[in-house]
Amino acid sequence: MKLYLPILLSFISGYGTYAAQPVIIVHGGAGDISESRVQGKLDGVKAAVLAGQKILAAGGSALDAVEAAVMSMEKDENFNAGYGSVLNVEGEVVMDASIMSGKDLNLGAVTLVKDFLHPISIAHKVLTDSPHTFIGGEGVKLFALEKGFDTVPPESLVTESAKKALEDFLQNRELGKTETGNHDEGGVGTVGAVAVDADGHVAAATSTGGMTGKAVGRIGDSPLVGSGTYADDNVGGVSTTGHGESIMKYCLAHSIIKLMEDGQDAETATRNAVTGMTSRLNNTAGVITLSKDGDVGIHFSSKRMAWAYIKNNQVFYGIDQDQVLEEPLLAT
Ligand code: GLY
Repeated sequence: MKLYLPILLSFISGYGTYAAQPVIIVHGGAGDISESRVQGKLDGVKAAVLAGQKILAAGGSALDAVEAAVMSMEKDENFNAGYGSVLNVEGEVVMDASIMSGKDLNLGAVTLVKDFLHPISIAHKVLTDSPHTFIGGEGVKLFALEKGFDTVPPESLVTESAKKALEDFLQNRELGKTETGNHDEGGVGTVGAVAVDADGHVAAATSTGGMTGKAVGRIGDSPLVGSGTYADDNVGGVSTTGHGESIMKYCLAHSIIKLMEDGQDAETATRNAVTGMTSRLNNTAGVITLSKDGDVGIHFSSKRMAWAYIKNNQVFYGIDQDQVLEEPLLAT
C-alpha cells in the first residue's frame, strides 16, 4: 500500500499539483456604523462573498473572485465605493482602488477616479493590460475609455446618505477617525476582498470613496500597495479599511505580511498590527487577512466592521466586536 500511495495522491490531485480548497473573505468598512446601517451591510457583505465564491467554485482565479466581490459592493449603496461613495468637500465622488496578484506581485491601482461605477475593474485592467502599475486622475479616464469602460453621469454615484454625511461634516468640520467619520450617521465603508483559489494563488482588492469632506486631490490608503492591499502567494493577502492617513503611515497591510513571514498566524498578525497602529497613531482601522493556506484573520479597532467569509461550505459573517454568525452555503 505504501508503494502505491504517492501514485494515488498524484492521481487525485491532478498529476502532482494539489488542488487547494478555495477560500474568500470580504469586508464592508470599519467605522462608527449606526444601528440603522447594520442589516444593509450584513446583507451586502454576504452577497459580495457569494459573488466571489461563485467564481472560485467554477474554477476561476482569485483575482477574478476578489474583483467580483468588490464589484458587488461598488454597486450597493450600503458601502463607500462606487455608487454610495462619500463626497469630498466640493460634493464630488472621487474614488481609489487597487488589486494585487500574489502569484507574481503584480499590481493595478487607480486614484482620483470620477465618472465610473467600478474603479476596481479599471485597476484590474491596469494590472493585466498596462505597462504601468498606478494611474491617477485624468489619466484614469483616458485609460478606461481606451479599454472600453463606459462612463456614468457623476450624479448617478451620489446617494442621499452621502449628501447628508457631507452636510453633517460641513456643520462640524471635523474629519473622523475612520473613513465614515465621527459624526457620520449616513457614513458607509470602504470595501475589500482577499481570496485563495484552487491553484493556491492569492489575490487582494480594495475600493473606496475615501473620507467625507476630504480635500480636493486627497488620496487615501486604499490604492497604495502595502497600505490598503497586499498579496503574496508565499505568505497570504490583506485588505484594510479605516483612517487612511494612519493606515498609510503604518503600511498596515504589509506590516501584517511581515509579521506572518516572521511566523505569526493570520489572526495574531492581524490583531497585533491593528492594535499597534491604533496605539501608535490613535486612530482606528479594520483588516481582513488570509494566509496562503486559507487561515483567516479579522480584527478592527473601530466600533464595527462588516465582514464575511466562506470556508468548507459555511458562510461566516459579523459586524460587532466578537460576533461570529454562521449559516450553510446554499447551492445556487
Ligand atoms: N480607508 C479609506 C480612506 O481613508 O480613504
